[in-house]
Amino acid sequence: MGNCWPSQPHGGVTPTTTGNLSTATADTSQTISSSTTSFTTSTTTTTTSGSVNSSMNSKFSVASGDQPYPTGQILPASNLRIFSFADLKAATRNFRPDLVLGEGGFGKVFKGWLEEKGNSKSGTVIAVKKLNSESSQGMEEWRSEINFLGRLSHPNLVKLLGYCLEETELLLVYEFMRKGSLENHLFGSECLNKYHFLGGSAVQPLPWDIRLKIAIGAARGLAFLHTSQKVIYRDFKASNILLDGSYNAKISDFGLAKLGPSASQSHVTTRVMGTFGYAAPEYVATGHLYVKSDVYGFGVVLVEILTGLRALDPNRPSGQHNLTDWVKPYLHDRRKLKGVMDSRLEGKFPSKAAFRIAQLALKCLATEPKQRPSMKEVLESMERIQAANEKPVEPKSRSTNTRQAHQAVHHRSPLKDSSYFTKLLK
Ligand SMILES: Nc1ncnc2c1ncn2[C@@H]1O[C@H](COP(=O)(O)OP(=O)(O)OP(=O)(O)O)[C@@H](O)[C@H]1O
Ligand SMILES: [Mg+2]
Repeated sequence: MGNCWPSQPHGGVTPTTTGNLSTATADTSQTISSSTTSFTTSTTTTTTSGSVNSSMNSKFSVASGDQPYPTGQILPASNLRIFSFADLKAATRNFRPDLVLGEGGFGKVFKGWLEEKGNSKSGTVIAVKKLNSESSQGMEEWRSEINFLGRLSHPNLVKLLGYCLEETELLLVYEFMRKGSLENHLFGSECLNKYHFLGGSAVQPLPWDIRLKIAIGAARGLAFLHTSQKVIYRDFKASNILLDGSYNAKISDFGLAKLGPSASQSHVTTRVMGTFGYAAPEYVATGHLYVKSDVYGFGVVLVEILTGLRALDPNRPSGQHNLTDWVKPYLHDRRKLKGVMDSRLEGKFPSKAAFRIAQLALKCLATEPKQRPSMKEVLESMERIQAANEKPVEPKSRSTNTRQAHQAVHHRSPLKDSSYFTKLLK
């Protein structure tokens, strides 16, 4: 739920990889100060009264697939199911190591099965995120997930089915996303070393049209957040974009989400948290968080989608660690762009569309938040690009490009190296 670097508000950034609950508490007051809106901490306890019963079970089968509200809605109250630890232990076969789908800052994510009562042959596949006792994250992120995801419903937001809180055990239960994360697909085998993602099958490079579909889906999810309740997501990145069996993108991880500013204000001020390489410069420098700070993160993901390279990779040659700083000059020019496009596309992409996406990415990456487009505008632009429906062009010859030139050995999470943090923050 965010490779986070907690720090003091207003600059004075304290680089550390070990955020703790005492700093998290400081941020809570900001969430509570927005309590005139419907997302308050108390929502967690007062409205999540779902209980284990058969009508709930039947809802889950629907929830994990079809979405009745294609444009999304804010539920008057969450109807999350409260699971016992024993339920989730059984569902994940006692948290069997070979069922681990991945691991993030909160803890491991396991694949599981909820069997229908009296019918062991049918049930629902779920993903169970279990807090690691050594994690720097905890109650704060868990609550935020329940407060936001428990009530926001949209086809491009992952569905939270329920949660478990028993003594020190904190768990979250989601619909299972069959194709894993965009990160798994873009950065392929390096994400597959440790865990058997996607049933252990080899990850094929994503073709151009699927990349565009994923970007559009994620943009829809973000646009919904920004327009429905002015929610600032704060941790937009490839690992938080999950994919269902048809590559529909769904945004996950609301541990860092925040309510945006009131109408009279342009931003909220908060501790700097998020993920290096994706966070907007004004936010890292000042702690001022704008709705448009998310647009910057979206721009970074667009560049990752184009290049197949990670936002941040300390193993690339010096000057290339930060992807956007490095490739921005290449995005302005159609010919230069070809040189940084993902070689795994094998040149099979419509060059006009790719250039238009690159132009859009540059707008999202504008230094000034005001100059960035809104997510609604970003979405409309991408829909127009998709509608142009250009046929991928077969390349005349395969060009050597940046990926081949700089095949770096990627680290899954460079941000966990605190010495590297310090370097970045100087
Ligand atoms: N609902 C889900 N269905 C299928 N796989 C999932 C689901 N949720 C998470 N995963 C898998 O687990 C991995 C870890 O997810 P998690 O959100 O805990 O960490 P992360 O996004 O990699 O890092 P961070 O802690 O920075 O958010 C994901 O990359 C994805 O592969
Ligand atoms: Mg995540």
